[in-house]
Amino acid sequence: GNKSPQAKLVILGDMGAGKTSLVLRFVKGHFNEYQESTIGAAFFTQVLSLNEGTLRLDIWDTAGQERYHSLAPMYYRGAAAAIVVYDITNKDSFVRAKKWVQEVQNQGKPGMVMFLVANKVDLADKRAVGNEEAEQYARENGLSFMETSAKTAENVNELFYDIARTLAKA
Ligand code: GTP
Repeated sequence: GNKSPQAKLVILGDMGAGKTSLVLRFVKGHFNEYQESTIGAAFFTQVLSLNEGTLRLDIWDTAGQERYHSLAPMYYRGAAAAIVVYDITNKDSFVRAKKWVQEVQNQGKPGMVMFLVANKVDLADKRAVGNEEAEQYARENGLSFMETSAKTAENVNELFYDIARTLAKA
């Protein structure tokens, strides 16, 4: 077969932060105003074309509800990259995101590529988490930072392609 090199990507974050919405926007080009909460985890795969060649991203979209927390290590262990998402209109989701960062940095693969993602930037009038605070946190913890909207598609392709390019260079 003519198989692409592949990399495992995990998406973590509080329930409702927009994990599934970001993946569906990227993989299918869709957005659902009433996206259902994920149960357990969901798997998606997408082949990306880069200058370096193609890369297949195997994407694990985890469930943010607390009762699924104990499943998360199965998905982030062995992952080459992680996206930790929060909702800019929800301060608790930023607190939760920082906890995910600490957990994955302690338990995940050393040298993992990690992005902190501020989602729902289309809801700027309801913003509860300042960008400077998040950017500073990202900088201090060695993460890349990106602002996205799964609804408008702002920065969604950029996010996944940035990760793929970083992995392809690694
Ligand atoms: P869990 O599966 O429970 O962990 O949630 P999740 O992080 O996968 O969130 P999900 O993608 O299900 O989105 C939760 C809600 O937020 C849905 O109603 C989405 O339509 C909405 N949503 C997601 N992303 C955005 C966004 O960028 N902007 C706006 N306005 N709404 C969004």
